[in-house]
Amino acid sequence: MQAMLLNAFANPGVFTLGNIDKPIPGPGQVLIRNVAAGINPIDWKTATGGGPAALQGDFPIILGWECAGVIEAVGEQVKAYKVGDQVLGFLNFPNPARCLAEYVVADIAQIAPKPEAISFLEAGSVPLAGLTAWQSLALGGHDLAGQRVLILAGAGGVGHLAIQIAKMRGAAHVATTASSKRHALLTDLGADACYDYRDADAMATAGEFDLIIDGMGGDTGVAQLALLKQDGLLVTLPSVTAEQIINAAEAQGKRAQGIRANPNGNQLRALAEAVAQGQIKVLIEQSFTLDQLNAAMDLSRTGHAQGKIVIEVSC
Ligand SMILES: NC(=O)c1ccc[n+]([C@@H]2O[C@H](COP(=O)([O-])OP(=O)(O)OC[C@H]3O[C@@H](n4cnc5c(N)ncnc54)[C@H](OP(=O)(O)O)[C@@H]3O)[C@@H](O)[C@H]2O)c1
Repeated sequence: MQAMLLNAFANPGVFTLGNIDKPIPGPGQVLIRNVAAGINPIDWKTATGGGPAALQGDFPIILGWECAGVIEAVGEQVKAYKVGDQVLGFLNFPNPARCLAEYVVADIAQIAPKPEAISFLEAGSVPLAGLTAWQSLALGGHDLAGQRVLILAGAGGVGHLAIQIAKMRGAAHVATTASSKRHALLTDLGADACYDYRDADAMATAGEFDLIIDGMGGDTGVAQLALLKQDGLLVTLPSVTAEQIINAAEAQGKRAQGIRANPNGNQLRALAEAVAQGQIKVLIEQSFTLDQLNAAMDLSRTGHAQGKIVIEVSC
């Protein structure tokens, strides 16, 4: 099968199209003919040697944590899925995900049926960012009904889904930060207030929040602690600056925590159903073919994509 292979960690990491053996599904696993695989910042971060790079095994390695496709073969003990089923998945260890390839092996606990009503491109784009938003908004046992929520980087892969999931869960007020050209779109998705992060005074009258989902991290995340209620929670997504933000929160007597989003087939099924029912819209900035992966990574690396970037692996 064809796959985009990384032969060395570098900044930027450079992938080349190569041929490797098709993987074989083990017990409790399925082989998916991959149709669409979403790109996430973790891909290019890992390609530099960051994030979970040390867990990827020997070179050449294949990255990519999410996909949608059609089941081509099932392993022993698999009863819930059969050949021909359309599925989507956010895949992770114990088996490396390796979604930037024509075929992918997946544990059935990490996949969900793809509803007819959503396209493969949407289905391949939503699992990782969607479950990150889903799980972040539930951290700390928050019941969002009636709460004030702030999503930093609302136009990004995670952010645009987090806005919609927060509204779906009954948040009374969902505010977000993005450049002004994105505000109309984010309002359409349900944001009650949009603030231009390039305007230092924009949030002066924003008020305080029960929950802040910080898609930026670093000094930006630290600065937003001023908007967190004393008994609120800030969930910071970029793991590399999580400690900085947790320490800054502690110094103010406030609560911040990091997250590592995890695969979860049941949550993914609920998320996919919400997309199918039109409660959640998946924004796709651009799709690329598998051999155009380096260009897709370049776009993700800009940090200014609107919604998701996706690789169309096959038809
Ligand atoms: N811990 C975990 O499990 C986990 C899971 C998923 C993601 N993450 C991390 O979370 C972060 C966000 O991920 P993502 O996939 O949403 O990223 P993304 O799609 O690359 O985010 C791009 C968006 O960020 C916005 N942006 C850039 N600078 C901004 C600023 N100063 N203030 C507000 N918005 C700004 C851009 O909006 P404009 O175009 O308007 O500038 C753009 O729409 C990444 O660091 C990622 O690695 C962590």
